[in-house]
Amino acid sequence: MAKITYIEHNGTQHVVDVANGLTVMEGARDNGIPGIEADCGGACACSTCHVYVAPDWVEKLPAKDPMEEDMLDFAYEPDPARSRLTCQIKVSDALDGLVVQMPEKQI
Ligand code: FES
Repeated sequence: MAKITYIEHNGTQHVVDVANGLTVMEGARDNGIPGIEADCGGACACSTCHVYVAPDWVEKLPAKDPMEEDMLDFAYEPDPARSRLTCQIKVSDALDGLVVQMPEKQI
């Protein structure tokens, strides 16, 4: 279980507990948090689950695989260092305290 803070583009914060084994995207979806659309359902085929990871978490997350890297090129204003696709990040105890920020829009 990890407590994850999702911050909407307008600054609204949502702090929720997400079970291990779910993805960060599923944690947002299951809690009705706006700003992560996940059009492809988590198949790494859309980029609408894009977020900016808090700077102090960038190095703590598992590295992006090449498919995630490619899909991020289609995201809205991706940041080379902080952008991730939340459907590709599996939740574990190690992610407790993770903070992610949604972009202005998803495309
Ligand atoms: S939900 Fe489509 S890429 Fe993550």
